[in-house]
Amino acid sequence: MYCKRFYFKFGVFIKYYITTPIFYVTNKPHIGTAYTVIIADILSRWHRLLGDDVFFLTGTDEHGEKVDEAAKKNNQTPQELVDKISKNFEELWKSLEITNNKFIRTTDKKHVDTVIKFLMEIYKKGDIYKGNYEGWYCVPDETFITELQLVDGKCPFCGRDVKKIIEQSYFFRLSKYQNKLLELYEQNPKFLMPKNKSQEIINRVKSGLNDISISRSTVKWGIELPMEKDHTVYVWFDALINYLSAIDWPNQNYKKYWPADLHLVGKEINWFHSVIWPAMLLSVGLDIPKTIFSHGWWTVDGKKMSKSLGNVVDPLEITKKYGNDALRYFFVREVPLGDDADFSEKALISRINGELVNDLGNLVYRTLSLAEKFTGEVKGNKELEEKINLEKIKEYMTDFNTFEAIEEIWSIVRNTNKYINEKEAWKLSGDELGSVLYNLLESLRVISILISPFMPETSEKIRKQLGNKIENLSDCKFKVYSGKIKKEGHLFEKIK
Ligand code: ME8
Ligand code: MG
Repeated sequence: MYCKRFYFKFGVFIKYYITTPIFYVTNKPHIGTAYTVIIADILSRWHRLLGDDVFFLTGTDEHGEKVDEAAKKNNQTPQELVDKISKNFEELWKSLEITNNKFIRTTDKKHVDTVIKFLMEIYKKGDIYKGNYEGWYCVPDETFITELQLVDGKCPFCGRDVKKIIEQSYFFRLSKYQNKLLELYEQNPKFLMPKNKSQEIINRVKSGLNDISISRSTVKWGIELPMEKDHTVYVWFDALINYLSAIDWPNQNYKKYWPADLHLVGKEINWFHSVIWPAMLLSVGLDIPKTIFSHGWWTVDGKKMSKSLGNVVDPLEITKKYGNDALRYFFVREVPLGDDADFSEKALISRINGELVNDLGNLVYRTLSLAEKFTGEVKGNKELEEKINLEKIKEYMTDFNTFEAIEEIWSIVRNTNKYINEKEAWKLSGDELGSVLYNLLESLRVISILISPFMPETSEKIRKQLGNKIENLSDCKFKVYSGKIKKEGHLFEKIK
């Protein structure tokens, strides 16, 4: 780690390629979708703070049977439907201040061409053959399901109806990669994350892999299969390749960012990313991503979100009411990245009133009130600096442990508040107050840097009041004080 940064100084750049799943355009974005993208945004901003060259990708998954069906229902062409909804996603991410470097759509011509080239590579390796598929298919999940997997005749993943399909299909020799995958998991302990969930995948791979269907001869809305034009490419095969087409593979440019450092996904699509995707890459002879992190699922007031229950939470409604930063903070603070969690406005409000208003908001307000009136020199010992454990925060972030990282940052906030009380700062004056203020203001400056990936707007507001420039992680140590105080109102409003 240290070594890498050292090389960076001498011109060897450190890249960080991070992706979210590309979302189906048939679902409206909700807080589950927003969760993945916001976490990816936090990690991206963190890596930029480290000085890395970050490439952050998100986008939409636009082919397949489901889209075709939805378009028919709306009396639209599939193209009209995907153009409209894809735009909604793009706009949502803008409103949420997401800093993705690219927004990919699987209907982009560049992507379509890339999928065809990628398939031809696998074909040349002898890993694609023609056969017949007979089995079940879950349209909402766009997933092939075997008889054995059915649960009470329904999709084992989402519980919805499945349909029987019997059709000609091309297959990918997934079975051939069983041992190579097991080796890969063994040799790359950071590939399957979080660690406590990895055994599940390993066991399933050990129990044997079947070849998988990669084309549909009864679905028209998709990429034409290069081996047989009457087939379209199975939507998952098409979708996974987005991670390469977005960075211009097979043009040599792709090497700037490949292999991906992190594919962040929800747990329900872990199998596609941890098993099928690396097997596809092994077949073509490409490097394997460094980490697949599968995060937990959000329920709402204890229930799974669904259209029929009418409990789908719109992230924009939440952020309009409470602000972007409150939702970002809540997502990170409520639960470790790999675990399931429950969303409720009540829980969100309690985080806002407790930690944002009382801890951080108060700290800024109290410090700035004292500093504003002070006319002496702001300087003194660095007694508060010892409490800042930057290395620990860095380690947590490297391990995708955003939960502990924010906890550690919050301990700085709490310690700084405690310091005001212990020093009874409001009773002090002259050099004594100058020294306490030095500690408070420098501590706040460091806090504003550390929270910037998590709460960029709040960080900016604090920096403005402190009169500091935008900084990076190496500025997280106490320096000669050089701010220009400009106190404003409270950072957060208490919610009734
Ligand atoms: O699966 N809690 O797209 P999708 C947390 N197109 N995260 C949630 C969630 C919830 N309740 N609901 C959804 C697809 N997500 C494919 C992906 S990638 C090559 C193709 C998030 O629209 C989570 O990240 O169904 C999940 O993996 C993703 O949305 C699924 O989005
Ligand atoms: Mg889904």
